[in-house]
Amino acid sequence: MRQTGLLIGLVFLTAAWAADGYAAKVSPATDECIGCHISISPGIVADWERSRHAETSPGEALKQSGLEKKVSSEKIPEQLLAYAVGCSECHTMNYDKHQDTFEHNGYDVHVVVTPVDCSTCHSQETEQFSRSMMAHAYGNLVHNSLYQDFMKSVNGHQTFADMTTALQPPDDQTTADSCLFCHGTKVEVKGTQTKETEFGEMTFPILSGWPNQGVGRLNPDGSRGSCAACHARHQFAIETARKPYTCSECHKGPDVPAYKVYDVSKHGNIYNSLKHQWDFKKVPWTVGKDFTTPTCAGCHMSLVVDEEGQMVAQRSHEVGDRLPWRIFGLIYAHPHPTSADVSNIKNKAGLPLPTELTGEPVGEFLIDADEQFKRRKTMQKICLACHGEGWVNGHWARFENTLRTSNAMTLTATQILSSAWKQDLVRGLPHNDNVFDDLIEKMWVEQWLFFANSTRFSSAMCGADYGVFENGRWNLSKNIQEMNDWLQIHTALRKR
Ligand code: HEC
Ligand code: HEC
Ligand code: HEC
Ligand code: HEC
Ligand code: HEC
Ligand code: HEC
Ligand code: HEC
Ligand code: HEC
Repeated sequence: MRQTGLLIGLVFLTAAWAADGYAAKVSPATDECIGCHISISPGIVADWERSRHAETSPGEALKQSGLEKKVSSEKIPEQLLAYAVGCSECHTMNYDKHQDTFEHNGYDVHVVVTPVDCSTCHSQETEQFSRSMMAHAYGNLVHNSLYQDFMKSVNGHQTFADMTTALQPPDDQTTADSCLFCHGTKVEVKGTQTKETEFGEMTFPILSGWPNQGVGRLNPDGSRGSCAACHARHQFAIETARKPYTCSECHKGPDVPAYKVYDVSKHGNIYNSLKHQWDFKKVPWTVGKDFTTPTCAGCHMSLVVDEEGQMVAQRSHEVGDRLPWRIFGLIYAHPHPTSADVSNIKNKAGLPLPTELTGEPVGEFLIDADEQFKRRKTMQKICLACHGEGWVNGHWARFENTLRTSNAMTLTATQILSSAWKQDLVRGLPHNDNVFDDLIEKMWVEQWLFFANSTRFSSAMCGADYGVFENGRWNLSKNIQEMNDWLQIHTALRKR
């Protein structure tokens, strides 16, 4: 009898929540959050209302089977199963592990929702992402002395006095607004502030390095990365992640022109022309039916099947899985590193680089030929869903030839710079000085960072203009002439 009473009570409560118009039942805590936030931050509530998180409870989602299943965690805590994934479910999750947790109207709320919080329901994606270079983008940059010199030479404040310029170190806000915007900041709690709000006085944490959605962000619960880098809050819509605009936020260039190359490629053209006919929501994604040319996600991350439901590629949040090479030259293109954390790599000359300045890859930190073969096959299997083998092999032979020729043009530029260092025309490596702050050094950086990269990205992803006159081979050859002219003139001046 008592039980029936309770049940009737529950039904009433459910009816009250359902009356809000949400497909899934909302928890009492989230109901309270929405009660206030619908007027404080209506944009956030409306966005969330359109999300699958508002539509489906984890309990319902777990009932899905096979490739359609969107929650990869085997076990989800009991108290979360029956309700929509709402404000409270994400923003109070693991509250005791978060430095940024604050008391908020009777709840322990944190601002920064981290990969560990998402992993309660999406453990596989989180685990894979943690093994990707993107999750390590902060440390790979900040814990590398050479890249720190580079950062300083780009972001530092330059002054002019007595006919000479000097470089002051950059301030923290500039660094956060520059390199760390994409690589990720370190978000820390720097105290609290009390504010008068329309609901009375409230206290909030003061965060440094905030806002930020860099891929390798260091979070106040000790975790790495931001899922919101690709899954914009609060819709977390799969369509957004699958479209190239998401990746373009960071992969545009001129050092990393993947998006520009894609945009002018045949694949990009067909995407731009015909995307309104495609289905960006469907999971799994059927090649030929839901999309007819790949987006960035299609080649690098997506779960792709054919019309019979046969697997073409497994979804991967560890983007290295399909990459035999690291075509981003440091300073030469080289086999992909074995570990996503590359901050401990040292070459034989003692520099924190995966290649020698003379071009040889530092083998002990890089994948071997067998692993390269495996990854090449994984990527090529996707191409083969739409192309013949001759097409794919022909493309690949050309691409790998470009790796060799663009590396050779980097070597030539490095030889010219080494000669300038050796003759003491500028201070550099032999003097333990910053190697990025003189004119000829900056020309050298452009050789490998802009022109060789652009040429390789164009070759890998079929956007020919970026391999020739737009930061491509034209610039590779012209830059060598300019560097050599600089060398000849300064050698002659020295002799006089
Ligand atoms: C009594 C009203 C009220 C309730 C209930 C409420 N909030 Fe808030 N919340 C506010 C106000 C007011 C702000 C401050 C907005 C501003 O910065 O002007 C705020 C701010 C926040 C912030 C941003 C903090 C920051 O420093 O950026 C988060 C996150 C947040 N609330 C989450 C929640 C969650 C989750 C719940 C439910 C567990 C919740 N809120 C319940 C009124 C409320
Ligand atoms: C699926 C998890 C999830 C849910 C559900 C969720 N949030 Fe968030 N929220 C996030 C993430 C992720 C961020 C982005 C910050 C970050 O990168 O960690 C965020 C950011 C915020 C911020 C700060 C962003 C800003 O622009 O100032 C507020 C405020 C906030 N959420 C309120 C809410 C409210 C209110 C709800 C319910 C309507 C809600 N959130 C539901 C994950 C979630
Ligand atoms: C309490 C469990 C839970 C948490 C925490 C959670 N999610 Fe989800 N997520 C779900 C459920 C349930 C769905 C919908 C599944 C369905 O429709 O079958 C979903 C769906 C998704 C989708 C697919 C959306 C689409 O359009 O198809 C993405 C992307 C996603 N979540 C990302 C995140 C991110 C990022 C976080 C952390 C900021 C997060 N989720 C936190 C349970 C959760
Ligand atoms: C617009 C986003 C963005 C900004 C801003 C940015 N980067 Fe990057 N950075 C990237 C991307 C994307 C990659 C990876 C490219 C690839 O793998 O093809 C990358 C990779 C790197 C790498 C290689 C790290 C490694 O060892 O794997 C270095 C070094 C680097 N960036 C330095 C910098 C410096 C220094 C700055 C600031 C002066 C900076 N970046 C600013 C997006 C950015
Ligand atoms: C917020 C910025 C940001 C966004 C958005 C972003 N990336 Fe990245 N990505 C980076 C940075 C930074 C790195 C370099 C990490 C390093 O080298 O330490 C990187 C590295 C990579 C790499 C090279 C990793 C490796 O293992 O060699 C690939 C591939 C990649 N991203 C693909 C993508 C794709 C595909 C998307 C869109 C679905 C995307 N990225 C969205 C910033 C971003
Ligand atoms: C570099 C961009 C990027 C980042 C960062 C990223 N994702 Fe994704 N995510 C994607 C793409 C692209 C897809 C679509 C994959 C597909 O088409 O199969 C996706 C799909 C998903 C899905 C949908 C699964 C389904 O079956 O519908 C979930 C859940 C998800 N991601 C969770 C996360 C979580 C949790 C994080 C943080 C740990 C994260 N993602 C970080 C790009 C990203
Ligand atoms: C047709 C398939 C395809 C598409 C579409 C595609 N890529 Fe690529 N991408 C490749 C191939 C192939 C490589 C080189 C793989 C190798 O040998 O490592 C590559 C390399 C990369 C790298 C270099 C990683 C490194 O080693 O430094 C990044 C970053 C990247 N792609 C990002 C993107 C982004 C962002 C988009 C969308 C704007 C995109 N890709 C679209 C196939 C594709
Ligand atoms: C979903 C189908 C699909 C996938 C997957 C795919 N392509 Fe394509 N690709 C196409 C279509 C369609 C065209 C246009 C062909 C035409 O116009 O004749 C094309 C064109 C090309 C071109 C010609 C570019 C030009 O402008 O001449 C190259 C090269 C190419 N693809 C290579 C690849 C490689 C390499 C991969 C895998 C890394 C790949 N494609 C994956 C559908 C695909």
